[in-house]
Amino acid sequence: MRVLVTGGAGFIGSHFVKRLVAGGDDVVVLDKLTYAGNPENLEGAPVDLVVGDIADPDAVAAAGRGCDAVVNFAAETHVDRSILGPRDVVETNVTGVLTLLEWARETGGRLVHVSTDEVYGDLEAGGASRESDPLRPSSPYSASKAAGDLQVFAYVRTYGVDALLTRGSNTYGPNQYPEKLLPLFLTNALDGEPLPMYGDGRQVRDWLFVEDHCAGIERALRAGRAGEAYNLGGDDERENREITERVLEATGASPDLVRRVTDRAGHDRRYSLDTTKARVELDWAPMTSFDEGFARTAAWYRDNRSWWEAIKSSEGYRAYYDTQYAERLKA
Ligand code: NAD
Ligand code: DAU
Repeated sequence: MRVLVTGGAGFIGSHFVKRLVAGGDDVVVLDKLTYAGNPENLEGAPVDLVVGDIADPDAVAAAGRGCDAVVNFAAETHVDRSILGPRDVVETNVTGVLTLLEWARETGGRLVHVSTDEVYGDLEAGGASRESDPLRPSSPYSASKAAGDLQVFAYVRTYGVDALLTRGSNTYGPNQYPEKLLPLFLTNALDGEPLPMYGDGRQVRDWLFVEDHCAGIERALRAGRAGEAYNLGGDDERENREITERVLEATGASPDLVRRVTDRAGHDRRYSLDTTKARVELDWAPMTSFDEGFARTAAWYRDNRSWWEAIKSSEGYRAYYDTQYAERLKA
């Protein structure tokens, strides 16, 4: 199969590209190379990398020529950045998805759109979100992702396009940009920098190793039904406090580095996914325990300092970091 992977130079997308290439598929990547896109993530994968925007129909048409399917990872993905700049997420996360749906409508190709558990909003202890649950997004990021999801369903119903989506939980592993909790804390700990824990640190996320997430998306590509959503969760819920302790243990950093800072605005307390549908219909299940996935991730950041130091020393990263944390860490 020839597949266009949009956002394939980012974290999850680059793992997915390598997976498809290893399985013998023909892959083209379309990526805008925003701050989060990094061609180095694709090292060792012989693919054409086209630099362009998923919201640009001409770029999508050119990159998608001859493709049977598009798998869309391209997005503005960081909740904290979406709070700082709520308009910035709409063009890619909504208009971009619409542009890919137009491609599917014009060509008859399949679109698999990669979405998130955050569209369901947060849950009390005990519950788990099912695909049929109402969407209650809390942040500008998750609201834009929910809008993308709804466009997918509307295009299937109105135009009969072959499109479906997956909703993954908190994904971790090598090559994740060091703005998200685990890579930020691992790299800060390795550098003896503070670990800024929001609020009481008792928020719960469901952790999914990146290779398991990619396996679920591939199953959706090959066996998913048009018009359906599939939850892909790690079935491994942990509080941020525990993640922080694991980082300290793995790096040998001092607990004094942990700083409780002002909470994220609108912070969701807990996410949890019911993954029955993906298990039954896609024959998918997460295979990597948190112990194993975390050990592999911590080792990768320890051994690939040059990858993250290049990012963390850039002007753009420093400016973002100061805006996000300087005041919080002074308090
Ligand atoms: P990432 O931020 O690491 O990478 C995003 C990629 O998209 C980058 O390569 C960037 O250059 C590219 N991109 C951004 N805007 C673009 C545009 N307009 N046109 C073309 N390319 C563009 O993201 P990630 O963490 O790998 O997430 C990938 C997808 O998975 C996103 O849709 C995200 O919402 C979803 N998701 C992520 C997680 C997670 O925990 N990371 C969990 C569930 C779902
Ligand atoms: O649930 C899936 C989502 O997971 C994806 O859709 C998003 O793209 C991805 O970024 C992630 O969103 P989160 O907001 O859950 O991830 P983040 O790593 O930003 O934060 C995880 C938890 O850690 C959250 O409760 C906030 C907290 N946190 C985060 C940072 C960056 C801190 O306490 N301190 C921090 O500095």
